[in-house]
Amino acid sequence: MEFIRTLLLVALVPATSALDNGLLRTPPMGWMAWERFRCNVDCKNDPKNCISEELFRDMADRLSEDGWRELGYEYVIIDDCWTSMQRDKDGRLQPDPSRFPRGIANLARYIHDRGLKLGIYADMGTGTCMGYPGTTLDKIEIDAQTFASWGVDYLKFDGCNSNAIEQMMGYPLMSKALNSTGRPMAYSCSWPVYVGGLPPNVNYSLLGDICHLWRNYNDIQDSWDSVQNIVDWFTTNQDDVQPAAGPGRWNDPDMLIIGNFGLSSDQARSQMALWAIMAAPLIMSNDLRTLSNEARAVLQNRVAIGINQDPRGVQGRRLIQEKSHIEVYWRPLSHSASALVFLNRHQDMPYLYRTSLSKLKYQTGGYKAYNVFSGKTVTDLTDATEFTVSINPSGVVMWYVYPAKTSKPLQVRGMHKSHRIASPQLQKDKMNRPFVL
Ligand code: GLA
Repeated sequence: MEFIRTLLLVALVPATSALDNGLLRTPPMGWMAWERFRCNVDCKNDPKNCISEELFRDMADRLSEDGWRELGYEYVIIDDCWTSMQRDKDGRLQPDPSRFPRGIANLARYIHDRGLKLGIYADMGTGTCMGYPGTTLDKIEIDAQTFASWGVDYLKFDGCNSNAIEQMMGYPLMSKALNSTGRPMAYSCSWPVYVGGLPPNVNYSLLGDICHLWRNYNDIQDSWDSVQNIVDWFTTNQDDVQPAAGPGRWNDPDMLIIGNFGLSSDQARSQMALWAIMAAPLIMSNDLRTLSNEARAVLQNRVAIGINQDPRGVQGRRLIQEKSHIEVYWRPLSHSASALVFLNRHQDMPYLYRTSLSKLKYQTGGYKAYNVFSGKTVTDLTDATEFTVSINPSGVVMWYVYPAKTSKPLQVRGMHKSHRIASPQLQKDKMNRPFVL
């Protein structure tokens, strides 16, 4: 009897929880603490790198002062380990008082004043993955209300320490609870990871009605192996996951690790290119205070961002996997344009890959191709032209391809997000200038 009641509830909840608040029509962009700063709570010995309000203020400063916000990087997202070990006397989550002495509402104001948005982390279960207080079914309502009252703009809802039935109930319930606060909040669900990431366990079309984005697969780590492993999962399963993506609903292969310790320059460009092709959230987890100019240039590449943020919101696919370890990825874009990525999985030397657009299923016609990382444009291309690209080991060549006959210059917008701008100076900074090829 109890089981039947649970099943009924599960069947009813999604129908009443559609989260269609107009947010995230393009994949979210921003910064998140987890991959780089983990659960470092040792503020005594490591004050600059521990999970504290200082860290998030520092990152908000960097995002607003170093050109990130204008490119669309707008969310500053707190991950695990921000709470006190106990809820307050009214049952609400509360931040650790020594690491967040001014509280989350104050941090939200600081972030909003800089034209940015605040994200926070909670976990559907008895405890977070790191053992901090979780959100059991009876706490969903109060936690959604608390986040709204603080001015939170984005919730990452993890799924450690709960069972499949609790998750099946909890994720839609949280969607509904966020909606009924009246505050528009983006909702990132880790649900698929906990049930294997694939149909029939995951109903991706239902999920898209409940969440704006979702983690499908394992956590990213700071290495090229980890990036490759994630890309392999998303391409092996592209028939299941690629159609699920679209405006307001995104697959999330996890954070950008560019600027950390594990990727070479070529591998950094590869991650950026592949995340752009996959219409993935561009959420960095790095130290923006000490980022190298090289990493910054990759992360701030306007055309790569423009491709990622294309308003059609079609996720790309792997088209070809050659025996030579070359792979070709493709994503259709607005204005009859498209993006191509040639990836070299060989570890030892640059590879000369010869192909033509017709072999890549392009229609008959003339094209131009803008090389996203070199800045050079290939003109006089037709579908039949045989061309060669030289691809570095574990690197990419990325092209933005568009019809040659296009009469006006094509525009790739990397800066079309709306920001809440506080000061006249910031208002002036809000140059919504399109990138013109
Ligand atoms: C899980 C998530 C990570 C991170 C940690 C925090 O592993 O997948 O992204 O949030 O929990 O504990």
